[in-house]
This record gives sequence, structure tokens and C-alpha cells, in this order.
Amino acid sequence: MSKQNQNQKQNQSQKRKKKENLGRIISKVTQEEMNEKIKEFNNKAGWEQSGSIPIPEKYIEKVEQTIPTFDSEEKEKEMENINKNKYANDCRRYWDIFYKRNTNKAFKNKNYIYDEWFKPLIEGEMCDKLPLTCLEVGCGTGALIYPVLRRSENSLKFIGFDLSDNAIEILKNDEEYDPKKVLSAFAYDIVKKELPEEIVKTNSIDICTLCFVLSAITPQNQLLVLKRLFSYLKPGGVLFFRDYARYDLSQVRFNQETSRIAEKLYVRVSGTLSYFFEKKEIHDLMTQAGFEVIECDYLHKEILNRKELLVMHRIWLIGKFRKPFKKQNENQNEKENEIENEKENEINEKEEEENEKENEINEKEEEKEKEKEKENSESEITEKEKVNLKIKENEKKIQNEQNGQNTEINTQK
Ligand SMILES: C[S@@+](CC[C@H](N)C(=O)[O-])C[C@H]1O[C@@H](n2cnc3c(N)ncnc32)[C@H](O)[C@@H]1O
Repeated sequence: MSKQNQNQKQNQSQKRKKKENLGRIISKVTQEEMNEKIKEFNNKAGWEQSGSIPIPEKYIEKVEQTIPTFDSEEKEKEMENINKNKYANDCRRYWDIFYKRNTNKAFKNKNYIYDEWFKPLIEGEMCDKLPLTCLEVGCGTGALIYPVLRRSENSLKFIGFDLSDNAIEILKNDEEYDPKKVLSAFAYDIVKKELPEEIVKTNSIDICTLCFVLSAITPQNQLLVLKRLFSYLKPGGVLFFRDYARYDLSQVRFNQETSRIAEKLYVRVSGTLSYFFEKKEIHDLMTQAGFEVIECDYLHKEILNRKELLVMHRIWLIGKFRKPFKKQNENQNEKENEIENEKENEINEKEEEENEKENEINEKEEEKEKEKEKENSESEITEKEKVNLKIKENEKKIQNEQNGQNTEINTQK
């Protein structure tokens, strides 16, 4: 082995140890604390054991010390850093390499999802609309689609797409692949373009599933993706969400110096991205996209390593969101328009009234002016007549005088 390779290996193992140590510092407990945890867990009924438990404040405090929040200056640079980042710019390539290496072992089969998401809809609120069409976003190799299809019989049909060609190829080569149940599976980048209309029409999908996918998309594109998914759902359709949340074990394990490209965005060793959400963020993104929030919460589980006295905290965000029968924005816009129209009508009515009044006043003034004009013209006539009379009188006088002079001259003659 060359010296360069040796150094590289040493560096890598040092980094790994540093990461592991950080995780240990945060999750290490005493034997007594571990015994207490085991007792608590054993006292719970089976269904409670899989449920969420409150996130201990002590844990959050510890994590916050090791994962500092960004100040405003760092926040300003975030977008720029993401835009410049080669992993953020070339996601497709890294996901393709990832699936080539890991094939269909990349992600665990989601056997729990049918009971959590689909069963209540198939047996309950959507039972009269079967078979339902589900759009599985970022479906990978089918870790969600196949376990769900095994349980759903003929009540569900899937359309799945993923950024990676390799993932889709693996999905289609699976022995369970049945084109009658998986209507379409194709490689596609939902950030770049709307889905092809001939495969996914607007208002055509009953259920949309977004399972650990939004975290693989840069924060500046997340809202755009949700808006697109919103448009494909039928009014009343449901979107299920599950993804990484802030302070999850995996965030703690990231190398905070080299893997972090934004406050909550990291690059994995494979070159793929991972974002860690807060509840408010998802709540706001979904409502901005037009969804009604039915459920949105943290799911926290403790994983116990009894031998090494480690309590590991897995924290995810789970949610159920509905496309309202009428888009909320539309409702709001309609109300706003109605109010505006009413206001406009009121203003118009007032303006009309004022115009009428003005017209009346103008008419009256016009009449007055006409009368004045008449008066003036009458008086002008009398004035003229007077002048004419005077002129005539003067003319008569002059004539008389002249006549008088003539008679005088004649008598002198
Ligand atoms: C963490 S994996 C989850 C895979 C699968 N949903 C699961 O839970 O097993 C994230 C997946 O999202 C896909 N993905 C990331 N960005 C995408 C995009 N812009 N359009 C479509 N798929 C994308 C990736 O290729 C990858 O398969």
C-alpha cells in the first residue's frame, strides 16, 4: 500500500472515530439509568412501545452544544454555499452511484407503512373510491411500494418515480414487479420539471407519499416540489410525510465541520444530501403549498444498546396533509375579491350619487346662467334701442337745425 493511501486510510478512520465519539458522548448513560430505561420499556404495552415519547430536554441541550445554530451572517451565506456546492448541483449522479453500490439493500422495507397510512384510508374514509391511485415520490427501489402492495390486495395502484435510473431499473427487475399494480415507474427529477401529463394529470391522484425524500432536496426547492405534488392530488386527496427531524442521531453523527453545507443540510459520505426538519418548517411549507394540516408531529424513539450503555435518539417528523376540496388560497382570494367588489360597488354608488348631485347643481347653474344671459341680452337690446333713439333724436335735431338755416338763407335771398 502506498504512503498516500495509508495516510488517507488513517485520516478516514480518525474521522470515523471522532464521529462515533460524538455520538457516544451524547448517548452514553450510567448503568442505573439504563436499568431504569429497560424497566420503563418493559412496563409498556406492545402498542405503546412503538409510539413516540417526549424528547428529553437534557438531550436537546447536549446536542445544541455540539451543533451550533448559525448566526445571521452565516445564514445569509447559506443559499450561496448550497448553490455552489457540487453535491447539491449534481444529486442525480450521486444517487445513481449510491444505488449501483447498494442495490435494493439500500433502505429497509417499510413494512409498518401499510397499517399507519393506507389501511385507515382503504377501510375508512376512501373505502368507496377503490382502487386508489398512489403517487410514490422518490420511490427508490420500491422499499415502500412492495411491502404495501403485499397487504393491499387490489385496493391500491402505484405510480412511482425517482431521480435515479439505477433505482428504477432495480425496482422494475424485482420479481414482485407487476405492471397492473405499478402503473408506471420512471426516472424523473421533480425539481426540474412538472411530471409528464400523459402519466400524472392534475387532480388525478388519491394519495401521495413522501418518505425520506424532501430531506434529499435543497431547501430552496422544497416548496416548489410540494406545490407540484399538491396540483396532482384530487381535491380531498392526502399526502403522507415522513422524514428526518432536527437532533436525530444521524445529524449528531455527521461531521459538523466537513459535512455541513447549511445550518440543517449535510452531505453524506455517498455524496447524497440530508436535511433535518423542524416541525414549524414542515407545517409552514405544507400550508404555503395549499395543504390543510391534519397531523404534523415529531416521532421520537429511544434505541437502547444495553451492552455499551448507549441510548440513541431517533427523531423523525411525520405528517398527514389534505388538499382541501377548494384550495384554501382560492377561498381566501374569493373572499378578498368579494370584499373588494363590495367596496368598489359602494364607492361606485357614492360616486354616482355625487355625480347626480353635481349634475343637478350644474343644471341649475346652467339655467341661472341662461337666465342671466337672457336678461343681459334683453338689457343689451334696450340699451341699443336707447342709443338708437338718441341717435335718431340727434339726427332729427340736426335736420331741423339745418332746415331752419335753409329757410333763413332762402328769405335772405
Ligand atoms: C433517502 S432516499 C429514500 C428512498 C425511499 N423513499 C425510501 O424511503 O426508502 C431519497 C430518495 O429520493 C430520491 N430523490 C432525491 N431527489 C429527487 C428528485 N429531485 N426527484 C425525484 N427523486 C428524488 C433519491 O433518488 C432517493 O431514492
